[in-house]
Amino acid sequence: MKIYIAEHAGLCFGVKRAIDIAEKTIAEAGGVNTYSLGPLVHNPYVVEKLNKNGLKIIDNIDSIKKGKIIIRSHGIPYNIQKKAEDLNLEIIDCTCPYVKSVQNRVKEYHNKGYKIIIIGDRNHPEVIGINGWCNNEGIIINEIEEAINLPAYKKVYIVSQTTNTHEKFEKLSNIIVQKSEEVKIFNTICNATNLRQKACIELAKKVDAVIVIGGYNSSNTNKLVEISKKYCNNVYHIELPKDLPLHEILKFNTIGITAGASTPDWIIKEVVNTMENIDNNEMLEAIENTMTKIHRGDIVKGKVIYVTD
Ligand code: F3S
Repeated sequence: MKIYIAEHAGLCFGVKRAIDIAEKTIAEAGGVNTYSLGPLVHNPYVVEKLNKNGLKIIDNIDSIKKGKIIIRSHGIPYNIQKKAEDLNLEIIDCTCPYVKSVQNRVKEYHNKGYKIIIIGDRNHPEVIGINGWCNNEGIIINEIEEAINLPAYKKVYIVSQTTNTHEKFEKLSNIIVQKSEEVKIFNTICNATNLRQKACIELAKKVDAVIVIGGYNSSNTNKLVEISKKYCNNVYHIELPKDLPLHEILKFNTIGITAGASTPDWIIKEVVNTMENIDNNEMLEAIENTMTKIHRGDIVKGKVIYVTD
């Protein structure tokens, strides 16, 4: 079996930054009165670890009277940030700078009279947050039919959820261009997403099976699953090493691994270690080992990392 790891996979700059700032904030506060509005990242293990150290997840800021509130990398709507300020809560803003840039542009062009169109998932916190910077007056679309059904606007400003695929962004933007008088397109798919999606395509083309690691509710991870399925017939989405379908993957000669932007390298490494331990007679033992061993350290991305006959 050969195991390949995508050249670009796992933690992105924005998520790493948010985790680092959150850890520092929790430590400084001694683990008390520190809150995040929603889970800090879409990775249950990382969230659990932060929670054990004292970070409490809240759904709305009305429930707290004092303390530090951490804004996750997805960002939040303007009105909620304003409310936190009015309540004199200490705001630790971990909004990814790429997302912040989209929020600022949306605000600017909304004020200039453009109809804001956001291409993305209307239920995703990043998209909800971006829309909050144009007074929740943006139009959110995610499907071709939705673009076709849009009315003709005079002045349109189009942005994307940062984790979208280029294919979808281009298709939907082109439809809007044809029916609007003046269109400005700001491609806000971030570079980390670009690199991970391109590396995922290269990986999926050359292996028998792809394993995508990342939260089941993670947008960028689900995009990697979607992309992998276009180039490979056997794609498995897992959150943690214990989710590996060991019985199934034993039959493949080449396996590729990629991971979403909220997945730390050590989780990727644990998955690899579990697979290295695969043996027909020792599969159960391998699973048990994974549950108890934690391996940390760098992994070599873009290389064959394990070969056995
Ligand atoms: Fe930021 Fe891109 Fe990551 S927008 S949070 S660097 S996926």
